[in-house]
Amino acid sequence: MVKCCKFAVKVTLIQMSIMKQLLVIFFVFVVSLTLAQKPLKIEVDKLNVPMELTTFDTIKLLAPDTLGGKPLMQTILHRKTDRKFDSKNLSLKHLSEILWVANGINRSNGKRTVPSAMGQYPLRTYAVLTIGIYFYNPHKHQLEPVVKGDFRSLAGKQTFVDTAPLNLLFIAKARNSTDNFSMAMMDSGYCGQNVYLYCASEGLKCVVRAGAKEVELLKTMYLDSNYKFILAQTIGY
Ligand SMILES: Cc1cc2nc3c(=O)[nH]c(=O)nc-3n(C[C@H](O)[C@H](O)[C@H](O)COP(=O)(O)O)c2cc1C
Repeated sequence: MVKCCKFAVKVTLIQMSIMKQLLVIFFVFVVSLTLAQKPLKIEVDKLNVPMELTTFDTIKLLAPDTLGGKPLMQTILHRKTDRKFDSKNLSLKHLSEILWVANGINRSNGKRTVPSAMGQYPLRTYAVLTIGIYFYNPHKHQLEPVVKGDFRSLAGKQTFVDTAPLNLLFIAKARNSTDNFSMAMMDSGYCGQNVYLYCASEGLKCVVRAGAKEVELLKTMYLDSNYKFILAQTIGY
C-alpha cells in the first residue's frame, strides 16, 4: 500500500514537472511571438509617413500590401470625388500602391491591375510630384525621373492641382499613324477607377480630370506628337 502511494506521488510529481515545463514553453512562445510582431508594426508605421523629396532620383516603390484595405462593398460605398487637398506629401506606401493599382503588373504573365483593349496597354503613367515629373515603370515598379522642377501647374487647369502632392498623368503613345486614341481613352477609365477605389479604401482624397495644359506639358516632358494626354488624377490627404 505504502509502495503504491509512493508510486502515485512520484507520478504526480513527474506530471507536475511536465506541466511546469509545458507552461514555460507556452510562455516563451507567446512572448517571442509578441516581440516578433512589434518591429514589423513599427516598420509599417515608418513607411506611412509623408515622404521627404529632396533629391530627384529614381524612386524604388514598395511592393503593395495585397492583404490590406477595406472590403470591396465598403470601398465602393465610400468612393467619391474631392477637390480640397492638404499640401503634405504622400507616404511612400501610398505612392507605391497608387501606382500599382493605376497601372501596375499583378501577374507573372506581365498583365496589369487594369484591363486593356486587346492587351495593348497604350497608356503610360506619369507622377507629377513636388520635385519633378517621373515615369512609372511597371516592370521595375519604380518611378524614373523625367524632368526636374515643380510642374504641377501644367497638370491641370484648377487651382488645387498646383499644391496637391500628386497628380497622375495618363498619356498614350499612338499605336499607328491613324490611331485616334479611343482605345487608350477607354483604358484610362479603368486606371482612374482603380485609383478612386484605392483612395476610398485608404481614406485618401482624389479627383479624376480630363483637363491639363496639354501642349506645354508634353513639351516639358520631351514627348512628341506621337503622344497624347488622356486623363489626369489628383490625389492627396
Ligand atoms: C472623364 C471624367 C473627367 C472629369 N474631369 C473633371 C475635371 O476636369 N475636373 C473636376 O473637378 N472633376 C472632373 N471629373 C469628376 C466629376 O466631376 C465627378 O466624378 C462627378 O461630379 C461626380 O462626382 P463623384 O465622383 O463624387 O461621384 C471628371 C470625371 C470623369 C469621369
